[in-house]
Amino acid sequence: MAVSRTPLIAGNWKMNLDHLQAVALVQKLHWSLKDADHDFASVDVTVFPPFTDIRSVQTLIEADKIPFGFGAQDLSVHDSGAYTGEVSGAFLGKLGCSQVIIGHSERREYHAEDDAVVAAKTQAALKHGLVPVICVGETSEDLERHGASAVPVAQLEKALEGVASDAEIVVAYEPVWAIGSGQAATPEQAQEVCAKLRDVIRASLGDDAAASTRVLYGGSVKSSNIASFMREPDIDGALVGGGSLKVDEFSSIIRFQKHVGV
Ligand code: PGA
Repeated sequence: MAVSRTPLIAGNWKMNLDHLQAVALVQKLHWSLKDADHDFASVDVTVFPPFTDIRSVQTLIEADKIPFGFGAQDLSVHDSGAYTGEVSGAFLGKLGCSQVIIGHSERREYHAEDDAVVAAKTQAALKHGLVPVICVGETSEDLERHGASAVPVAQLEKALEGVASDAEIVVAYEPVWAIGSGQAATPEQAQEVCAKLRDVIRASLGDDAAASTRVLYGGSVKSSNIASFMREPDIDGALVGGGSLKVDEFSSIIRFQKHVGV
């Protein structure tokens, strides 16, 4: 990856870990990295716990001065009002969230979030000072029919409509067939699509945004394959699901720079 972009390793916990387990995991992860003499400035780490855990994680991170960011897995398109069950970006900002995942394939699939909703949520995040982590990716049918990049490229073009050229965003390329399957994309495949996504950022937001925006790969990232992704010029980090729930595994993923050959 390019030196000017600080790598970002993001842990998407999905609907796992209650607030007590969340606190234990963050604490142990911090200890594990300290024990390993990890250089915290060399990699940004963000965890995305369930909503009910965020306040506890915030309290711990602030009290112990743990250098991790934290964020939410979703937000409402609305600011406030009669929207039962929804969570406003304003509330997340108040809690100290720095980022929010938008358009994860599980939201798109189970909650019928289309590109218009993803675009509206991107706007809502930016409005409340949150960095949207915009997820895009093709299903196995898309892959067969259109190849790897057509669907993620179209999804990102839609999400970036109306985004200001100086807005900070993160893009996560997550092939749906690779999520939770144990079958990650090859680094070459992922690089090819991430390069095309960077072209979309350039066309939509300009050269500076293309140079500074972090593009992540997600889908069955493990300690055994992270280094191979991070060697690719257009991959600036990873969005990690299952691998972020185990302290030793996530700690090792974060320390990818120490892996042999990197
Ligand atoms: P996985 O999930 O690492 O368990 O494949 C990635 C994601 O859904 O963000």
